[in-house]
Amino acid sequence: MSRRGSAESDQKTSEEVALLKRTNHLDTSDSSTRLRDDDTFDENDPLNIDPEYVDRGERSKERQRGGRSSRFAVVRKFILRRKKCCIASTAIASVVLIIISIGAALLRKSVPETRSSPPWYPTPPGGTLPSWKNAYEKAARLVDQMSLIEKVNITTGTGWQMGLCVGNTGPAVNVKFPSLCLQDGPLGIRFADNITAFPAGITVGATWNRDLMFRRGQAHGREARLKGVNIILGPAMGPLGKMPAAGRNWEGFGADPVLQGVAAAETIKGIQSEGVIATAKHFILNEQEHFRQSFEWGLPTALSSNIDDRTLHELYLWPFAESVRAGVASIMCSYQMVNNSYACGNSKILNGILKDELGFQGFVQSDWLAQRSGVASALAGLDMSMPGDGLLWANGKSLWGRRLTLSVLNGSLPMSRLNDMATRIVAAWYQLKQDDPQNFPSPPPEGEGGPNFSSWTNEETGLLYHGSGEGPTGRVNKFLNVQGEGNDAHGIVARQIAAEATVLLKNDDNILPLSRSGWGEGWTKGPANSKFKVAIIGDDAGEGKGPNFCPDRGCNQGTLGSGWGSGAVEFPYLVAPVKALENAFDPNEVIISTFLTNDVPPSNELLDVDLCLIFINSDAGEGYLGHDGINGDRNDLFAQKGGDKLAKSVIQSCGSGNGKSIVIVHSVGPVVVENWVDEPGLKGLIFANLPGQESGNALVDVLFGDVNPSGKLPYTVGKSLADYGAGGQVLYRPNGIIPQQDYSEGLYIDYRHFDKYAIPTRYEFGYGLSYTTFSFSSLKITPTKPKSPLPSPRPTLLSPPSLSTNIPSADKAVFPDGFLKLKKFVYPYIRSVDEVKAGDYPYPDGYDSPNEPSQAGGGEGGNPSLWDVHAEVALQVSNTGGRKGKEVVQLYVSFPDDVPVNRNGNTWGEGSVDFPVKVLRNFTKIELDPSTSTIVSFQLTRKDLSYWSVYDQNWIMPTNGKFTIWVGNSSQDISLSGML
Ligand code: BGC
Repeated sequence: MSRRGSAESDQKTSEEVALLKRTNHLDTSDSSTRLRDDDTFDENDPLNIDPEYVDRGERSKERQRGGRSSRFAVVRKFILRRKKCCIASTAIASVVLIIISIGAALLRKSVPETRSSPPWYPTPPGGTLPSWKNAYEKAARLVDQMSLIEKVNITTGTGWQMGLCVGNTGPAVNVKFPSLCLQDGPLGIRFADNITAFPAGITVGATWNRDLMFRRGQAHGREARLKGVNIILGPAMGPLGKMPAAGRNWEGFGADPVLQGVAAAETIKGIQSEGVIATAKHFILNEQEHFRQSFEWGLPTALSSNIDDRTLHELYLWPFAESVRAGVASIMCSYQMVNNSYACGNSKILNGILKDELGFQGFVQSDWLAQRSGVASALAGLDMSMPGDGLLWANGKSLWGRRLTLSVLNGSLPMSRLNDMATRIVAAWYQLKQDDPQNFPSPPPEGEGGPNFSSWTNEETGLLYHGSGEGPTGRVNKFLNVQGEGNDAHGIVARQIAAEATVLLKNDDNILPLSRSGWGEGWTKGPANSKFKVAIIGDDAGEGKGPNFCPDRGCNQGTLGSGWGSGAVEFPYLVAPVKALENAFDPNEVIISTFLTNDVPPSNELLDVDLCLIFINSDAGEGYLGHDGINGDRNDLFAQKGGDKLAKSVIQSCGSGNGKSIVIVHSVGPVVVENWVDEPGLKGLIFANLPGQESGNALVDVLFGDVNPSGKLPYTVGKSLADYGAGGQVLYRPNGIIPQQDYSEGLYIDYRHFDKYAIPTRYEFGYGLSYTTFSFSSLKITPTKPKSPLPSPRPTLLSPPSLSTNIPSADKAVFPDGFLKLKKFVYPYIRSVDEVKAGDYPYPDGYDSPNEPSQAGGGEGGNPSLWDVHAEVALQVSNTGGRKGKEVVQLYVSFPDDVPVNRNGNTWGEGSVDFPVKVLRNFTKIELDPSTSTIVSFQLTRKDLSYWSVYDQNWIMPTNGKFTIWVGNSSQDISLSGML
C-alpha cells in the first residue's frame, strides 16, 4: 500500500537493495530493510566509506588526545592506500563484487523462508497500563504543547560527541523539557572521573545474591544522578551467552535466562530507585561481536540472528520480560538483524513482542547507529535515534532530525506515531520523577543541572559540542566525587560483590583458607625459624602499566579488572592482587617473591617455595576494539598470553614438585583448564571473574577466610570449546554478504546442552565450594492453584492519551532567521518549505490490517496471570561444617514427559513437546552459622511451569503428567527432588 508522502526512492544503496533482493533477504513483509525517508543520501557507497567512520576507536577520550592503534587502523591504512591507487582499488572492488555475487548466489540457494520476520503494525501506543498512568497524563499534557520541531528534537540525538555524554537528545525549550544525557554503562559511569569501577555483570551474576545485585544498581544509579546522567545504558542482558567465547557476555550476568532475568531486574530496580532511567540492552540476539554492525567488519550489512519463536520466548526474551516487569523505562534495540530484519526496524520484535506482548511503556532507543532506516524504523516501533547520526558515524546526517520533521509534514509518518514516540520519552522522565529539581536540577540557563563531566576531555573547560570542533565553550568537567563516603562508600559494595562472586572450584587438602603466617591447616611447619615462602606469579597479579593504559580497557596487561569496550570505565584505582597479598601476609613469618610476567620463572627461583599463587586470565570485549588477535569475541577458551603454559610449569616446579599451587583466574567467561587442572601439585582453583577496582582486597578476603566463598559459576566450564556444541561457536567468517547465524540448537545452550547430550563438564553451571558444608532436607511441595493450560484472558488496557494530530504549516519548521548552525550538529529544522515534497510513501505490507493483541500480554512483562503462584516449595538447609557461610539454593524444574504437541484435538504436529532435561527456575542465597538450620521457601509461577507454544502463541502449562522439582547447590549436585 502507499500513502501520500515522500516520493523518494528507496534510500538503501542500490547495490545493497539489489543484493538483498537477489538473496531473498528483502523482507517485503516488513519495512526494516527499507530506508525510505525524505532526503537522499549521497555518501552511502559502502565501498567508498570514510575510514574514520569504520574506526570507532575514536570514541575513547584518549583517542581525542593522542590516538592508538587498533585492528581498524589496518583497515584505514588499507583504504587510504586504496584512494591513492585507483588501479589497485578497481581490482579490489572487482574481487569484492565477485565475492558478493558468489555469496549472493550461495545465499539464494540456502536461505529458507523461515528466516524472515512477520510484520506487526501499528505500534501499540504507550499509556495503557495503570502503573504508568500518572506519568502518561503529565507527559501527554506536555507533549501536546510541543511544536513539531520540539517533538522531533527530543526523539533524535544531537549527533556523536554533540554534548557532554555519549548520547544527548535535543531539548524542547518552550515547554522546558531538557536535553537528556545518556551514558554507559553496565559497570559504572563511562568516561567519567571520581566514579566507582564496580565489578562487571558476570561477577554480579556469580554472587547469585539478589540484595547485592540491587545494591550495585542503586550505587551506580546514585553516581549517575550526581553526575547529571538521566539515562544509564545498562544493564546488559543480551548477549545471554549462547557462545561462551562471545566478546560481551561479561557485561551480562550469566548464561541462563532466570539468573540473567533476576540480576537484570534487581539492577534496574536499584538504578531506578535513584530516579535514573535504566536501559535494558541489547534487544535482542546480539550474541556475538563479529558482524554485529554494518561496516564495522568490512561488510555493508550486519549479521542476521535467525531464531524460532519458542527459543526466542523461553531463552532470550525472558530477561527482557523480567526487566519490563521491573519497570525499566528504556530499552536499547541491538545492531544486528533478527530473522533478516534489523532489530531497530523489526516491527515484530518492537511493536509486536516488546510493546504489545510485554506491554513496554517506556521508549526504545537505538544502539549507536543501529538504526538503519528512517520512517520505516519509526513505524516499526523505534522511539529515539542514537546518537543521532544516521548510517555513518559523526557526519550529522541523521535518518531522523530534519528528515523526521519532513516525513511528518509530507504525511509519510503519522503525527500520532511521533506523538507516541515523544510521549513515551517524556513519560519515562516523569515516571522516574526527573521533573523534580531536587533529583535533577534544571540545566542552564534556568539552573546548574545537566551533566557535570565531559566524555571527550579531561580538561576543566572545553567545547560544549566537541564533535563539531566549533561553537560555545564552557566548564565541562566539575570533577565531582560521587563515590560515596564512610559507610556509604561504594567501594564497600564493590568489594563485597567481588568477594562474594569469587568461585572456589577446587580446595584439595583444605589448602584454603590460608593463614596470614603461612603455616595453616594442612601444612607441616618447617624447621624452627624457617619462614613460609610464597611466590606470586603472573602478569595478572600485578599492576602492569596501570589499569587505564589502553583506551576503553582494550588490551590485556596487568591484572584484569574488566573486559573492554563501551561497558568499561576509567578505573579510579585498581587494587592489584600482589599489593593486597603483600599487605595480608605477616612479614615476620612469610617471605614473598614476585614474578609479575607470564614468563615461566627460572626453576631455581621456585625450589623451596611452599606456596605458588599463579594468576592467569582471559579477556574479551566489544567489537570496535581488538587486541592481540582477539577481535571482540575470543578465539578460544584457553587462558591468554601463555597462561596455560605458565600454570602447568609452575605447578610442576613449585617447591621442586613438593610445593602447593593455587591458580586464580580472572576472566570474561569460562576458561578451559584441562591443560593443568589434574596436576597433583594443584591444590586450589579460583575463578575471580572481573572484580573491578577492589580486585586484590576482595581476593584476599576470600583467600584468608574473612569471607567464606559462596560464588557459583554463572556458566558451565566445559572441557573444550567444541563441547558447547555447534550452537556455541562464534561465526568468525562471513557465510554471505548478510552473514546468517541460525540458532538451530534451539533451547540447548550452556548446561541445557551439556545435560541433553550427557557431555561431561569440568565444572557445571551453579557450582562453587565453601569453607563449610551444607545439607538440604525435608523437601515439601505444595500446589497452591490447580494446573490449567492457559493464562487468564488478557486484561483490558487503559485508553492511551489522545493528542492533537494536526500537522502544522511547514514554515513553522524552517530554521529561524539568523540561526547559528554548528557543523555536524543534528537539528530538527528544515531548510525551506520547498523541501516538503508530496508523493506516495509505500507503507509496509500489513500496515492497514492491525495485528490482534497478544493473549500473552496485558501487563508489564506479559499477562499478569503468568506470575500467579501455582506451587510453593520448602526445604530445610543446615550448615553442617565448622564455619559461618552462605549457600545458594537452586531450584530446577523438569517438565512432564509426553506432553502432546496436539492440544484440544487440534492437529498441529506429531509426537510430544521437547523439553530440556531441567531448567533453573528460582534461587536464593542464605547465610547460616555452623550447626544451624533454616527453612527456605520458593514460589513457582505459572510462567515457571509453562512453555511457549508457537501454535497457541501463548504460554501453556502442561496439565497431564508430573513436573519434577529438583533442589540442589549446582545444576548437577541435586540433593532433593519431588513431583508436582
Ligand atoms: C554499544 C552499546 C553502548 C553504545 C554507546 C554501542 O556500540 O553496543 O552497548 O551503549 O555503543 O556507547
